[in-house]
Amino acid sequence: MMGTRHPIVRSPARASDPNSELAALTTFSTTLAAGGSFRAACARALARAAGDFAWHAASVHLVRPDGVIGEAANTGAFLDAAARLARLHRAASTRAPVFGVQQDGSRRRRAVAIPLQAAGRTVGILDIVWDAGEGLPSQQFPFIEALATQLAAWVDRARLTDELEARLSETMSIRQQLEAYARDVRETFAAEKERAEQLADAFAELEQTYLATVQGLAVAVEAKDATTGGHLVRVAQLGRVLVRVLAPSLADDEQLRYGFLLHDIGKLTVPDAILRKQGPLSDAEWEIMRRHPAEGRRILEGIPFLEQARTIVYAHHERWDGQGYPLGLRGDEIPFGARIFPVADAFDAMTSERPYRPAMTIEQAFAETRCAAGTQFWADAVEALLEIPADELATIIGQGAEHA
Ligand SMILES: [Fe+2]
Repeated sequence: MMGTRHPIVRSPARASDPNSELAALTTFSTTLAAGGSFRAACARALARAAGDFAWHAASVHLVRPDGVIGEAANTGAFLDAAARLARLHRAASTRAPVFGVQQDGSRRRRAVAIPLQAAGRTVGILDIVWDAGEGLPSQQFPFIEALATQLAAWVDRARLTDELEARLSETMSIRQQLEAYARDVRETFAAEKERAEQLADAFAELEQTYLATVQGLAVAVEAKDATTGGHLVRVAQLGRVLVRVLAPSLADDEQLRYGFLLHDIGKLTVPDAILRKQGPLSDAEWEIMRRHPAEGRRILEGIPFLEQARTIVYAHHERWDGQGYPLGLRGDEIPFGARIFPVADAFDAMTSERPYRPAMTIEQAFAETRCAAGTQFWADAVEALLEIPADELATIIGQGAEHA
């Protein structure tokens, strides 16, 4: 490996002492394997070797796959850095020892850069400088070659360690990023959940406010039309049960509930003399009374949360056969809620006691309602009424004015 093309001047002190070279190599190996970081171990071993082999200086360099050379350890100053760098690059590219001369003032020194081979490529370079006057004893060559072989294995292992550490560092970095991301997601989720809960609370509060407003208006209507005590609450409950039978998905529709509760709000505009008149109304009085659906729609105009409820208020006196008012709508032209409402309204009226007649039984009211199916009432709504359990119906119509 070393070759003999350069004249070697034997060192008198070490000319014929192979045992000392072997001991130096052993020391080098032991020092290198003593532990610690690669660079520190390499520096210690190189310093011992330089002393034992009587070198002026020595250094170890790492060669990266992309050809960049970096110093790993050295035993002292190199006076001619440019010459050394050129020597290192030539050794890396030729993969063979490169001899050179180092000029230190008036003194000339010789040098050799030895490529360190591992896994089929040059992984490092061992550079040695010795006094030219004393020369590098040729018997050192086998030992230096063995030393270079050991160094090559160590350099390669250090390279692998560096790569593993770099990958570990990269993995840790990615993990930290993922953990930070997960933390952000958790915090965002918690914040969004809290916000959703606040919105749900606010929405529920708003719904409660709407209902309280509607109930307040309903109470105002009942207070004016005293003959219908508890009627609004009962009709609203009956209507809701009918919706549950006919369209279960709308069972909790607040707009239908509001419409049932407020259906007669237009009566607030009807004079008490007409509203509370004992005996039949005149044609003129009926004319005024029949305005209450339109008046009710007008009262609720401009209230966004009652927009759909207004359709029930306006159409609650329409009949299935088109004989109702104010528009004379027929069949499916009548809004869904207003098709249901008359059945609930009439059933409650029939089962309520009036000053001029006693309350009908549930069976009597059933019979009357059934007779008007397909004319005054939507037949499906009548059938739905007949499906309501008797005990549930009894509970609803048993509620009096105190629930209004
Ligand atoms: Fe009415």
